[in-house]
Amino acid sequence: MKIQLLFIAYLFCFTTIKAQKYEGLALTPPMGWNSWNTFQTNISDKLVREIADEMVSSGMKDAGYIYLVLDDGWMAKERDSNGNLVPDPKKFPGGIKVLIDYVHSKGLKFGLYNCAGTKTCAGYPGTRGYEYHDARFYASLGIDYLKYDWCNTEGINAKEAYTTMSNALHIAGRPIVFSLCEWGNNKPWEWAQNVGELWRTTGDITAKFDGILDHGTWKQLGVMPIADLQNGLRKYAGPGHWNDPDMLEVGNGMTVNEDRAHFSLWSILAAPLIAGNDLRKMSKETIEILTNKEVIAIDQDKAGMEGYKYKVKDSLEIWVRPLSEGDWAFCFLNRSISQKNIDFNWQSDVIFDTVSKRELNTKTNIYKLRDLWLKKDVGTTKKPLKAIIPAHDVLILRLSTKL
Ligand code: GLA
Repeated sequence: MKIQLLFIAYLFCFTTIKAQKYEGLALTPPMGWNSWNTFQTNISDKLVREIADEMVSSGMKDAGYIYLVLDDGWMAKERDSNGNLVPDPKKFPGGIKVLIDYVHSKGLKFGLYNCAGTKTCAGYPGTRGYEYHDARFYASLGIDYLKYDWCNTEGINAKEAYTTMSNALHIAGRPIVFSLCEWGNNKPWEWAQNVGELWRTTGDITAKFDGILDHGTWKQLGVMPIADLQNGLRKYAGPGHWNDPDMLEVGNGMTVNEDRAHFSLWSILAAPLIAGNDLRKMSKETIEILTNKEVIAIDQDKAGMEGYKYKVKDSLEIWVRPLSEGDWAFCFLNRSISQKNIDFNWQSDVIFDTVSKRELNTKTNIYKLRDLWLKKDVGTTKKPLKAIIPAHDVLILRLSTKL
């Protein structure tokens, strides 16, 4: 009897610790929009409805941006007497459920934000100690995505905290994409594959190309420092579990060239494409970048093999990504502040990717080249490639064996 009880107790402990996420979610990197990068906590019912409308009318939804995620600042400062989270009554006078229904009525999905700590980063009620309660609450609201942050966690164990919330969401019975946001501090790539669908790999992004914004106690990173920090992580990513180098800053103040480079690199990195700009005020160029279906197709490639920096010479970087059906993405990035001429001989390199075990052999195979920003076929790998790349810009090609 004692042994049986011990065995049951063991089974109970084992099943509560083991991660159990919903299978089949985010088989390609999630795409959507999040309020934080532009609005921080200045969010409202009106804003969400207008953004949902824009996601549809601007062509974002058609391009694949499906999740509308409200970040920090959606809650009132206290839970109610039943322990439920309360949407801020000033920002959301009709509550949050009507808004979720509105977003769903547009054919979009809805996401919310909370934090593993006692309070969110902006000081609203955190989930610590309320994991199962909050998961039931989210499922009852009908949300589809939860971003789960890491402020005010006072030394708790990250793997355990995220696993507890993952299990709570699973038991709540609704498929909810679980986005881990602990900034890469505890190497989530090593343990989160069965915990959530995406995990942040770094601190917060800022709309700068190649710099850092130092706030003293914390730093925000530009596009290039974040891209550099992805080195070595690609072997952990794949369908249903993605490295997340943070949300997009396209349309938030960088030059068009820089926005194009940022978007191209995120697609090479198989990054979640979560726009963070004010969709109601997009320039023609911003829309063109965010909805470029050929670049998005690189990001969303169903094989889900993340790309990498293959070579660097004099601030000219070459990033590559193996794609399904033998194709490759090939991206020349000019990281310098002056334009560069390239004269690239395809016969000079054979690339062997040790992670995917795929070979790009332009000596023995001829590939068709497609320029994904010009949206034009530009010859084959038989001839050397000559091009001019402006400062902080890219030339991204799709190499295809189908001539
Ligand atoms: C952290 C996250 C950001 C954002 C803010 C909200 O900094 O990394 O993405 O969610 O919190 O307070």
